[in-house]
Amino acid sequence: MYLSREEERALDGELGPGLQLAMRILVKLGDLFGAERLLPIRSAHVSGVSYKTVGDVAIGFLEELVEMGARASVPATTNPCGFDERLKAILDLPDEVVAAQERLVDLYSKLGLLRTLTCVPYYQLRPEEGSHLAWAESSAVVYANSVLGALTNREGSPSALAAAIAGRTPDYGLHRPENREPGLLVDVLFNPRDELELWALGFLVGQVAGDAVPLLRGLRGLPDWELKGLGASMASGGMTAMFMLEGGRPRPRGPLRELEKLQVGREDLSDVMDKLSSPGEPDMVFVGCPHCSREELELIARLLKGRRTERPLWVCTSRHVRASCPEAVRALEASGALVVVDTCVVVSWVERLGVDLVATNSPKAAYYLPGLSGVQVRLASLRECVELACSRSSR
Ligand code: F3S
Repeated sequence: MYLSREEERALDGELGPGLQLAMRILVKLGDLFGAERLLPIRSAHVSGVSYKTVGDVAIGFLEELVEMGARASVPATTNPCGFDERLKAILDLPDEVVAAQERLVDLYSKLGLLRTLTCVPYYQLRPEEGSHLAWAESSAVVYANSVLGALTNREGSPSALAAAIAGRTPDYGLHRPENREPGLLVDVLFNPRDELELWALGFLVGQVAGDAVPLLRGLRGLPDWELKGLGASMASGGMTAMFMLEGGRPRPRGPLRELEKLQVGREDLSDVMDKLSSPGEPDMVFVGCPHCSREELELIARLLKGRRTERPLWVCTSRHVRASCPEAVRALEASGALVVVDTCVVVSWVERLGVDLVATNSPKAAYYLPGLSGVQVRLASLRECVELACSRSSR
């Protein structure tokens, strides 16, 4: 791989051991994927912040980096951790778990990362179209590539952190225009009735697409929050890091070559729903995977219509979004909903609440929750989730 004089010096350790380690990770990765050079990046987004999902190994690695004097050289945001201030008390976690989680967040701060603790960093620091990024968190990656028109691979936590420190990422994959062309043409033969049908479609497309960029035809006028969930569902169904919509941006550069085709009717969604959803009375309701936008918070407040919730309703979002719509937040909390920041039901310790079944509108949450927390999931649209939250359990 070609390296500039300054990059050579960094790799040789002349600019400090922390930067040297970051450069070693990036050069190895670049060699593995045949990159010819490193690209400067505008921002990094780092996952691996919840102690529940990364454990003590991550703490050891971060401590080493801090000791080496490593520091982010570009704006770098962080994914959700395991609790916010209120949940710390509600979950009644052992002291050592609380201390380890706080240590982890603190170490990221010491490395110069921003304490955003959200999977929707783009609502706070919106990348420009055409800018190169190094983001982990698959839902944010797919949103950045497909909705914002920025360019990022689906990084892992160590490579995103290394890129944050070096301010560079290897030039391969979705940084190259030739890899941002559609590889699968999806004809959607029905009009999704709600976001859950759309997101179940996304999960199915993700399962089929592999690492190809799917181009979806037949979907029109989707609001931002539905696009966010569509991409998140594709990325959890498979390896999708970018999709295109017919008539949207980004678009194919030239005429479409012969593409593999997939037709999806409403009846095709039943496999996804059977795989991800279990019937029954939910013990709690969770929306905000990925974290809610302002638009979603306002929509949920409207759907609640001032009613009291009868079972726990967690609405997860970022501090930034929460601060942007105080009226909606007040209305939600007056109804009994908990507006949770810094974390989500998936990366927190929800099993400590004695919960067996969670209702959510997110196929991504439904995919991960049983494995991570041993709880079952009932998929329901946002509207249905609010109705479930406002209805009394018949048990
Ligand atoms: Fe975000 Fe948690 Fe879902 S980190 S994408 S809300 S699993």
